[in-house]
Amino acid sequence: MFIDTHCHLEDENFSDDREKVLERAKVAGVERIINFGSTLKSSAVVVELAKNFSELYAGVGIHPEEIDDFDEKTCACLAELAAEKKVVAVGEIGLDYHWEKDSARRLLQQKIFIEQLDLARQLNLPVCVHDRDAHGDTLKILQTEGKNLRGVLHCYSGSLETAQEIFKLGWLIGVDGPLTFKNSAKLPEIVKAAPREKILIETDAPYLAPVPYRGKRNEPAYVVEVAKKLAALRGETLEEVAAYTAANAKNLYEIL
Ligand code: NI
Repeated sequence: MFIDTHCHLEDENFSDDREKVLERAKVAGVERIINFGSTLKSSAVVVELAKNFSELYAGVGIHPEEIDDFDEKTCACLAELAAEKKVVAVGEIGLDYHWEKDSARRLLQQKIFIEQLDLARQLNLPVCVHDRDAHGDTLKILQTEGKNLRGVLHCYSGSLETAQEIFKLGWLIGVDGPLTFKNSAKLPEIVKAAPREKILIETDAPYLAPVPYRGKRNEPAYVVEVAKKLAALRGETLEEVAAYTAANAKNLYEIL
């Protein structure tokens, strides 16, 4: 069995055929899927989806590109959503310096990230972190503000050295479609060096479809392509990859 540990099935790209997408995931052996909110509104939708479909779970949080959605009431609203049984994480939260060049706005991202880490600690939930072009500050914040927290750097794009620091903290890395790309850079070396208990597989659907679907809408069934690539790089069977990545996901997110 496979678990797609990070996607966005609440996205409007799925509004016409969400049930068919879930059906294809099931046929492909993807038996659990975790959807992550980016705003308060999308967080509420992923929680609602988790109530309606047995294979779906949810994470709630404010994405760094959506910080204008964050005010003094937001954490209380997220906590209320997180009271639902199938909410298994706070996320996706973190830092995105790719689009944000303004230093004051970057500081605001950091502040909101730290507030949501505190929320995760209060709720005793693991964290799903988004880090784009902000590897140094993300690691620093996890080292100083991440005490007693566990989690994953989703869609990992940092260096091997940073990954090793992440593992030392007891955290995992999430691997997606880019592993299958020709320009996957250092990612193959990183997944070869990573201990198996530190790896999660994910799609980030509708984004980042793996080869041979690159450029198309991504969906949870395609997480199998990521697993195949992982198996080839690490010299493991697909069954082994499915088993340990699913075990890692169940362990981190306490999914039944
Ligand atoms: Ni995402």
